[in-house]
Amino acid sequence: MLPLTVKQVTKIFKNQSGATFKALDSVSVSIQPGTIFGLLGPNGAGKSTLINLISGIMLPDQGSVEIFGVNVATQTERAKQLLGVVPQEIVMEMAFSVEEVLYYFGGMYGVLRSERKARIRQVLVDLGLEDKAGERARNLSGGMKRRLMIAKAILHRPKLLILDEPTAGVDVSLRQKIWGLVRRLSEEGTTVLFTTHYLEEAEKLCDSITLINHGRVIKEGKLKDIQREFSENSIHFELFDPAAPVLVGAIAVGSEFEYPLKNLAVDMAAITAHYGTNLKSIRSEAASLEHIFLKLTNDTL
Ligand SMILES: Nc1ncnc2c1ncn2[C@@H]1O[C@H](COP(=O)(O)OP(=O)(O)OP(=O)(O)O)[C@@H](O)[C@H]1O
Ligand SMILES: [Mg+2]
Repeated sequence: MLPLTVKQVTKIFKNQSGATFKALDSVSVSIQPGTIFGLLGPNGAGKSTLINLISGIMLPDQGSVEIFGVNVATQTERAKQLLGVVPQEIVMEMAFSVEEVLYYFGGMYGVLRSERKARIRQVLVDLGLEDKAGERARNLSGGMKRRLMIAKAILHRPKLLILDEPTAGVDVSLRQKIWGLVRRLSEEGTTVLFTTHYLEEAEKLCDSITLINHGRVIKEGKLKDIQREFSENSIHFELFDPAAPVLVGAIAVGSEFEYPLKNLAVDMAAITAHYGTNLKSIRSEAASLEHIFLKLTNDTL
């Protein structure tokens, strides 16, 4: 049974003037057990909408979501027990202390009273919040609120953990703590899905990725395979003057250019001959996720 199976999910929103718009258009995603999975895409691509459908907060207009074979729409309570979600927006029981918030959540998710205190202590240590146990949630800093959101989501030891931009706006040390935690949970058998705009973070952590844009899946697979597919097919170069007439076949990707690779020596010679001293750098190595991302999203704009 896969940790997550999203089958041809479509979500339609109405805007204020009543016009409809597909935030997700027949999206399918499946995640293998024990993997760290990256859901990537530009602002407005539909990532958080997909997460809302997975968490059962919203229902799809078409398609289905199953968590370990449990249908989220029809067996919502069972699905919730298997799932921990850290939403993108901070939502918090502001008037309560950190410990009270966790105690309440532990109860809601069926963590036995006898175990709850020890678990809470553990997650507070995991997230570096031990000093703040008695502090009211409203008095926490932004990064600390984010930590409390993560603590809440992992307290009942979900089998599938979903983090929507967990490292947006957090400092370097917390970011590394979150990476460490994700890796540890993954080693302990938790499957993790997360979204990020930091592509080096996705490169560091993810086993596989799905890239969505305008509500559609535009690329999916193992990161290594995707990188191989892109890097073997192109030469990358930078110019001092990017406005110079473009060599036929080359395309701009961010601040770089890409040229389809057929024969390395011949292609390199063609590029150097065309650009001469305007050529700042040239390489044909593994494509970074950033380049793949820019190329694919530019292509589908
Ligand atoms: N409740 C809603 N009602 C109407 N439109 C919505 C609603 N939720 C999301 N949308 C729209 O759906 C699209 C996808 O939004 P979503 O939040 O899923 O994007 P995202 O990929 O998470 O982007 P970001 O990287 O900025 O977080 C956007 O155009 C957004 O305005
Ligand atoms: Mg989002």
